[in-house]
Amino acid sequence: MLPLSEWLVDPVLTIALNKGRILKSVLPLLAKAGIEPLENLPDSRQLLIPATDPNIRMIVMRSQDVPVFVARGVAEIGITGKDSLLEAGAHVLHFYEPVDLGLARCRLVRAVPANAPAGNHAPVRVATKYERTAKRFYLEAGRQAEIIKLHGAIEIAPLVGLADEIIDIADTGNTLKANGLIEKDLIAEISARLIVNKAALKRRFKRISGLVEAIEQEAEASGKA
Ligand code: PRP
Repeated sequence: MLPLSEWLVDPVLTIALNKGRILKSVLPLLAKAGIEPLENLPDSRQLLIPATDPNIRMIVMRSQDVPVFVARGVAEIGITGKDSLLEAGAHVLHFYEPVDLGLARCRLVRAVPANAPAGNHAPVRVATKYERTAKRFYLEAGRQAEIIKLHGAIEIAPLVGLADEIIDIADTGNTLKANGLIEKDLIAEISARLIVNKAALKRRFKRISGLVEAIEQEAEASGKA
């Protein structure tokens, strides 16, 4: 039973979830931790979903929006890919990243055409969804780069002459291969992470840390974390 003060002060706790692949793997884990949506989330058109626990609700959104909702405190907890957290900029100042759920593992890589002559263009033209991460990567590598921001189908960019190389997610590596690309650098290991708004954690420590621990235990039990 929660202390009365926690019931009186904004009792509903909001969890921001990344739709798509991560959502499908995260929902069974959340269910084991006692957090279940009242609707079939992947199919629902409703984006604000109550949970079986009346003090919890879930919001489903694009991965890059999860850090925004959590940083601004409209969701106390969020689950999204590490790739989106790397892109979160100053929002990272407002949340903790206490749990690597170990789900939806993949890699953020730099890939180039298999038949590319090295150093064709200076600066190198890079197609990516991950503008901030790419800028950091080339800065640290001491290479000049022109970042071409795309929102999908990144692997096509070198093939049609839009870019010299790409920074993108690889899982099986099939998409790179199918488009004549090879991995050159591993930029980051990616997996689903749990984030918590810093101010909310302070204000509602027992409630939020209890939930975070329950989720973490389930992730550990399933050998993911
Ligand atoms: C991701 C990523 C790659 C692909 C890699 O795209 O952007 O295109 O998966 O997977 P693979 O190495 O197993 O081939 P996703 O399908 O998530 O769609 P997106 O382009 O909308 O990100």
